[in-house]
Amino acid sequence: MLKSKKPLIAGNWKMNKNLEEISKFVDVFLKSGVENNKKDVLICPSYLHIEFLIKKLKPYGVKIGAQNCHFREKGPFTGEVSAPMFKEIGVDYVMVGHSECRTLRNESNENINLKLLNVLKNTMHVVLCVGETLEERKNFRALDIILNQIMIGLNNVKNFDEVFIAYEPVWAIGSGKLPDLEDIKNIMKNIRDFVRKKYGIRAADEIGILYGGSVDSCNSSKILSIKNVDGLLVGSASLNIKEFIKIIKS
Ligand code: 13P
Repeated sequence: MLKSKKPLIAGNWKMNKNLEEISKFVDVFLKSGVENNKKDVLICPSYLHIEFLIKKLKPYGVKIGAQNCHFREKGPFTGEVSAPMFKEIGVDYVMVGHSECRTLRNESNENINLKLLNVLKNTMHVVLCVGETLEERKNFRALDIILNQIMIGLNNVKNFDEVFIAYEPVWAIGSGKLPDLEDIKNIMKNIRDFVRKKYGIRAADEIGILYGGSVDSCNSSKILSIKNVDGLLVGSASLNIKEFIKIIKS
């Protein structure tokens, strides 16, 4: 399945919403007609709600994703879910390396790379999340950290058509703080240049680069108009259906 060239608006719901809230979200979403917008829409709910959303929204072209997966395909890993299990139920996208997973689960770049390869092997799209902490930024190490996460995260990838990188500064997540637009532009350019140098022109053209961290309906169109930004990864603003629709329309 090749990636479409439309901008991607992805909602990461994290550990939020119950079935009743999701049903209301789906009703308003479908009434708004926004699924026919000129953008691809991806929603990543909790694992438990994936199948429900696949039934309700996938027929309308909305992509449904998982927020993480295990780096092995099966085995004695209590509480974990593997890439083939997601594929089997119709998942289109899997996120790997979100900063909350890196921190809470102590995930290494090497483990994240194994997850990413597993997702691709199971013919789904993967969203590799990268980003620097505030301390790293203050020490002028942001770019080094990000490019190192990308270099290890993409190790052994051969085809980039199913790959997205989401640049999410850790300090911008859930904080209401957005980097300067010039900063975002600079990091995005550096990411694209890095992919071009390391993997070639075709890879740089095929890979999608998203921005995430305190995106809302007031800043979304400005961020989307930055060169090299192919879409947005939205956290808390994607939980509010009115906000999310405004972002998709932006
Ligand atoms: P917020 O949009 O709430 O800052 O979260 C961003 C995020 O973590 C998306 O993956």
